[in-house]
Amino acid sequence: MQLAKRLKAIKPSPTLSLNAKAKALAARGEDVVSFAAGEPDFDTPVHIKDAAKAALDAGFTKYTATGGIPELKSAISAKLKKDNQLDYSPEQILVSCGAKHSLYNLFQALLSPGDEVVIFSPYWVSYPDMVRLADGEPVIVETSAAEGYAPDPKELRKALTPKTRAVVINSPSNPTGAVLGRDALARIAEVLAGHDCLIVTDDIYEKLLYTGTPFLNLANVAPELAPRVVTVNGFSKAFSMTGWRLGYAAGPKDLIGAMQMIQDQSTSNANSITQKAGVAALTGTMEPVEKMRVEFQARRDLIVKGLNDIPGIHCRSPDGAFYVFPNVEALIGKRYKGKQVNGSVHLSELLLEDFKLAAVPGEPFGAEGYLRLSFATARTTIDKGLLRLREFVAQLS
Ligand SMILES: Cc1ncc(COP(=O)(O)O)c(C=O)c1O
Repeated sequence: MQLAKRLKAIKPSPTLSLNAKAKALAARGEDVVSFAAGEPDFDTPVHIKDAAKAALDAGFTKYTATGGIPELKSAISAKLKKDNQLDYSPEQILVSCGAKHSLYNLFQALLSPGDEVVIFSPYWVSYPDMVRLADGEPVIVETSAAEGYAPDPKELRKALTPKTRAVVINSPSNPTGAVLGRDALARIAEVLAGHDCLIVTDDIYEKLLYTGTPFLNLANVAPELAPRVVTVNGFSKAFSMTGWRLGYAAGPKDLIGAMQMIQDQSTSNANSITQKAGVAALTGTMEPVEKMRVEFQARRDLIVKGLNDIPGIHCRSPDGAFYVFPNVEALIGKRYKGKQVNGSVHLSELLLEDFKLAAVPGEPFGAEGYLRLSFATARTTIDKGLLRLREFVAQLS
């Protein structure tokens, strides 16, 4: 069948497909250990589920306004003020079916053919493909573990052109877990002050921080740039609501209006019941979120130590999110069962096939020589997975 030409520019999400493979193996009865999931393993907090049940019982089951129910938009506006010291009125907010949907709407609304979007690598796999789907060109600026994944301002400046429409910031980051602190953000802001483009900040992991210092959005550090900052966030990671599909973008009114028009002609509103649950998430207790964060921190320490104890693996301790991004360059090029391991994708395949261990390769995140392991899984599973990885490494020659 002849499909749209634009599909040639994109690939299926490697994280979702590895996850699906791991789940299929498990369904066949294999004892799979998965470090692939991009979601917390905790249940959605009870008060949020109760709000959804109440909405359902009250018959809140009809279309809502495309951009979200007023109650939720007000709660988001209040959250952005209280947690982030950011001023966005409800008219500057669009509620979508996940932060991914918010970003998709944004690039569709913003880009014309040939427009460029600067993305720092390692990057979340969906950014470049979402830009390509909107006929834009991703422009990758590399960052390194040695610099804590903070962008080099000189490299950023070099990447900016008259076609640059946006720069994407994701802190804490998927896949590295790196957090951009005040200085790193100030250096980015200084470069962007002289360039008229949007600054998209994907703050979805803001609640999962292990530094003891509060989260910072670029607009906190450079308030003069706030009018061109689009803040994207969602409920999936902080409230363990991945399946509910709820996220939002807050930004300049005309951009939000354009994004809403796209949503009008595609999905319409986010699920009505989910929106009521979202209100409860933002206005209710944050205790379950904090409990989850504390547990993630303990798991982080466990996995980082275990990885660094394996010869040939080097792992930074991430300051946020629930991913570690170990350097496995020393394993690549070695031989396993007589064959050379030829890259992170091959490494990931061998781990899944022979050790039933799902770990996402670094290559699709723009970082060959790395693996991404999610520690949003039980400590016993982490121990088991580390044993399997150690066993694999012991068999390399
Ligand atoms: C950096 C980043 N942004 C956005 C998303 C999308 O989240 P949502 O479930 O709200 O669509 C993810 C999910 O993996 C992510 O890692």
